Amino acid sequence: MSSKIKKEIQRRRTFGIISHPDAGKTTLTEKLLLFGGAIQMAGAVKSRKTENHAVSDWMSIEQERGISVTSSVMKFNYRDCEINLLDTPGHQDFSEDTYRVLTAVDSALMVIDNAKGVEAQTMKLMEVCRMRNTPIITFINKLDREGLDPLDILADIEDKLQIECTPLSWPIGMGKGFKGVYNIYQRQLHLFTPSQSTRTQDGVVVKDIDDPVLDELLGSQAEALREDIALLEGASNPFDHQQYLKAGQTPVFFGSAVNNFGVKEMLDAFIELAPPPGPRAAAERMVSPEENSFSGFTFKIQANMNPAHRDRIAFFRICSGKFTRGMKIAHHRLGKEMSLSNATIFMAQDRSNVDEAYPGDIIGIHNHGTIKIGDTFTDKEPLKFTGIPNFAPEHFRRVLLKNPLKTKQLNKGLEQMAEEGAVQLFKPLMGSNYILGAVGILQFDVVIARLKAEYGVDAVTEPVEYSSARWIYHNDRKKLDEFTNKNQANVAVDAEGHLTFLATNKWWLERTMEKFPDIIFQKTREYN
Ligand code: G4P
Repeated sequence: MSSKIKKEIQRRRTFGIISHPDAGKTTLTEKLLLFGGAIQMAGAVKSRKTENHAVSDWMSIEQERGISVTSSVMKFNYRDCEINLLDTPGHQDFSEDTYRVLTAVDSALMVIDNAKGVEAQTMKLMEVCRMRNTPIITFINKLDREGLDPLDILADIEDKLQIECTPLSWPIGMGKGFKGVYNIYQRQLHLFTPSQSTRTQDGVVVKDIDDPVLDELLGSQAEALREDIALLEGASNPFDHQQYLKAGQTPVFFGSAVNNFGVKEMLDAFIELAPPPGPRAAAERMVSPEENSFSGFTFKIQANMNPAHRDRIAFFRICSGKFTRGMKIAHHRLGKEMSLSNATIFMAQDRSNVDEAYPGDIIGIHNHGTIKIGDTFTDKEPLKFTGIPNFAPEHFRRVLLKNPLKTKQLNKGLEQMAEEGAVQLFKPLMGSNYILGAVGILQFDVVIARLKAEYGVDAVTEPVEYSSARWIYHNDRKKLDEFTNKNQANVAVDAEGHLTFLATNKWWLERTMEKFPDIIFQKTREYN
């Protein structure tokens, strides 16, 4: 492999943000893009969020999709690095895609609201990060507001997320008394000045924590800072880069995204600490990014960008080798050769054709339904990347067709949407109506609206009694059949033919798992 390609790999950082709605992900994203010079105007990312999510109005979903695709992957440069920020949709558009995006990143940034601590959605996303031990940097946001004691926030993270915290900066006061942050490792003091869009001045360098400059600048808060730092030295673990890379430890920064305070320090640390693209597991072997052969996988499909053309964009993460426009690749699932002549690279607010791309980069490939989530493409060797699964849905609805003559179209529409990962489809062993499963409830409205717009099918959904799903396995087919016979009312077959246990509640699920200890119940399932 040429040294140019090695260099390109080393300068790439591909990451996603995990947070609970309202913690400040959008605000922080905007500031990061400003530092990267990718957007000129603050507010460009924000405008997307304020779009109306009127789901009954199909056009508005379409418009929303148009916008969200450009911000699905944001590419920007900072210092010598080329950064790919993959959007993890939250709020109403929280879906399986949100989880799956995290299978395509090399690291994550966790944003925590200082008044709330660790919240539900962050815990769910953290669970996905755990699957691949994704390294995480933490940004505790909104220090310009009163919040929890910083030490309590760290304890909350350690307790709920089971990861060791190691603060690399420390806040001085909060809310009205917020004076700034002390960068523990660089021994720099950054004084808080609110409402700056791009902050350029550097911090004040101090000799050590006893430097009288601190007293001059902070007054009585200097002593409090010294006490905090002394306490931290005794209580918290020293930063260990290897531990961070193994996801055993998270470096923590404090700041205020809306005031663009503490963001640059965090970004500087991010590009130094966060890993460049590393080896990825395929079913056959580990694949190193530095291999000459091109390879990668699809982790997201965005459908019908233009309803008139029924086209789809497959989001494809490059794992090894170099992409060049027009190159021929092997689509192993179909056993076909494909030319990547119209791949798109994602820039914030813009899409442009790619001429070359490297491991860690995400390219968008237009297609008409030939690409599925989890598909691996290489230039020759048959490989199948693993770890891009289906996630057990948490919401369920039964689909009812208004016009029985449209059964065929309904089936086709649902099967295609299941392939895109827009929704999961279950056919119960008993009963004839399909059950839809999703990680976020907006998906049901999207499916019904798309059935009408794209397949001419009038359908509705109604609630069902299920609340969790687990894929079930056993080496011995007879044992699986025994289980299925005893639980007929709760077993369904998913879109790829796998048996799934649908439970009405958590208690019922746990009881069944205890009753059938040799059946394997899985929360995720790899694509065929
Ligand atoms: P999200 O994408 O994680 O959902 O959060 P978003 O950035 O939209 O931020 C949620 C709210 O928190 C916004 O207020 C935003 O302005 C505010 N916020 C973000 N960072 C900070 C911070 O450092 N300090 C303070 N005090 N607030 C912060 P909003 O009222 O929902 O919207 P807006 O009217 O301010 O735009």
